[in-house]
Amino acid sequence: MGKSISAPEFIWHNGRHVRWADAQVHVLSVGVQFGSSVFEGIRCYATDAGPAVFRLREHLRRLQDSCRIYRIDLPYSLEALERACLDLVAANGLEQCYLRPMVMRGYGDMGMAAIGNPVETYIAAWQWGSYLDQSAADRGIDVCVSSWNRPAPNTFPALAKSAGHYNNATLIKLDAIANGFAEAIALSPDGMVSEGSGQNIFAVRDGVLVTPPVDGSILSGITRSAVIAIARDLGIAFEQQPMPRELLYVADELFFTGTATEIAPIASVDHIRIGDGAIGPVTRRLRAAFHEIVHGRDAGRRDWLTPVIAGKREYVDG
Ligand SMILES: Cc1ncc(COP(=O)(O)O)c(C=O)c1O
Repeated sequence: MGKSISAPEFIWHNGRHVRWADAQVHVLSVGVQFGSSVFEGIRCYATDAGPAVFRLREHLRRLQDSCRIYRIDLPYSLEALERACLDLVAANGLEQCYLRPMVMRGYGDMGMAAIGNPVETYIAAWQWGSYLDQSAADRGIDVCVSSWNRPAPNTFPALAKSAGHYNNATLIKLDAIANGFAEAIALSPDGMVSEGSGQNIFAVRDGVLVTPPVDGSILSGITRSAVIAIARDLGIAFEQQPMPRELLYVADELFFTGTATEIAPIASVDHIRIGDGAIGPVTRRLRAAFHEIVHGRDAGRRDWLTPVIAGKREYVDG
């Protein structure tokens, strides 16, 4: 188990709760052998009304999309998975957590297609702290441009969140760490800015917020779309446009977005300081608004939160 998490009691497997230690797969499952597995990463936040899951339906929709792209028959409806996520958080007594639904091709045929193999659906939930400590959250992180590119369109389908794709993400992350950086920004095969190992990227230049388009090299992040919506709400000018690498170096502000990462300011890229090397005003505004929303303090965006208790009640009654 990762050093930063402590195990809660249950994991959801194919419609029932099993003990954390009993959530096992066979070593020759196709999901293990070939990374033939899709997954989601979702955050559940503490609010005054109890735990609430951020953009649950959007995450499960993306899980469904990932299954469709990889021709995996998802055995559960979005409603059933939604109830399963809420019920799992309640059953584990978690006030805030990270949720990890996974759908994988299981044990059976050893070939890659493994069409008749059982499809195993799991949901895990655990308490997972912030990606950044407080000083990094205020100052930002030091990152590099990775020597590894993101995959080309029509190789690994970037819109799918598939386990196999994360070998590329692992190379990007390990490259960063080996060179003394906290994270890396990967370029697309045509040399334009793509995304981080597990984050989308935004730049601010002359007050305009910019992010690369969904071009077949990035995951269409749910935090990314939230930030775009928040920017519109706040009247911040926004453009999606291809970003040359050098725009990173001349940006006034840069930040990553992601479920695990939330909104993380970037202090430097390849040792070139971004802006004045501290969190910039646009990033600060967006992050403050994001925090209000995820903790249920913005009535206008309550529909992005699904309360756990209500879900549990509905599940038991239904
Ligand atoms: C490769 C990649 N890009 C971007 C993101 C950010 O996506 P989201 O905001 O939906 O978590 C993630 C995280 O899931 C990711 O793994």
